Amino acid sequence: MPAALSVFADESALAPALAECFIESAARAIAQRGRFDVALAGGSTPKAAYALLASAPRRERVAWKAVRFFFGDERCVAPTDDRSNFKMASQALLDPLGIPSERVFRISGEIEPRRAAHSYERALVQELGPGARLDLIMLGMGPEGHTASIFPGSQALTNERDLVVAVYVEKVAMYRITLTPPTINAAREIVIAAAGDAKAIALARAVDGPYDSNITPIQAVKPVEGVVRWLVDRAAAAKLSAAPKSGVQ
Ligand code: 6PG
Repeated sequence: MPAALSVFADESALAPALAECFIESAARAIAQRGRFDVALAGGSTPKAAYALLASAPRRERVAWKAVRFFFGDERCVAPTDDRSNFKMASQALLDPLGIPSERVFRISGEIEPRRAAHSYERALVQELGPGARLDLIMLGMGPEGHTASIFPGSQALTNERDLVVAVYVEKVAMYRITLTPPTINAAREIVIAAAGDAKAIALARAVDGPYDSNITPIQAVKPVEGVVRWLVDRAAAAKLSAAPKSGVQ
């Protein structure tokens, strides 16, 4: 059982907790280093938390001018495509906050995948230094235990060389660009949000099962020096073997 796993009654109770995680992580980073470099998660789970962060009263609790936005992964589509993680984050968070484009480091889903990965890797190194260390990486988890765009059997799982890779994902029949496990694990803080009964089997495998990141890629999330927190709802936690330490919030 990960030390920091919190269970919430449902997804609507998880969203404010995820927003608070962001706010507290930002405050720590800005207090210590004067800025907050965060990689946003895609998918649907974080949307509600993004909307809370972009609205009063929470929007007043972050020094947004010190925040730079990156992405954990992107679908290889145009930024205007409804499948784009950049589009989702822009609509829910970046546009309502009026974040200027110079503080948003988008993955170019619209160009050739390998070029997009190389270009993003260069941007990460240029902005964050050789280790591309982020202050916070926000992640979700798919029903089979994928995270970012690292799916079961992914070549990204054995890639110790690159910070960012382009992968073809059979399950969704498309190319994706994703941070690799070494980049994810270099982060100071990682928060994983998972909700809904569709995640219960993968969460139990990830938390209680034997280690096999090939089968359950989210098990590859093991920060080198940082901390990882899990925020899950009761439905996703239904198959966990032990009552979580933090209990239901
Ligand atoms: C993506 C995400 C992906 C997502 C999970 C969970 O690009 O889709 O990076 O890893 O976090 O698939 O998605 P939901 O939040 O929609 O369940």
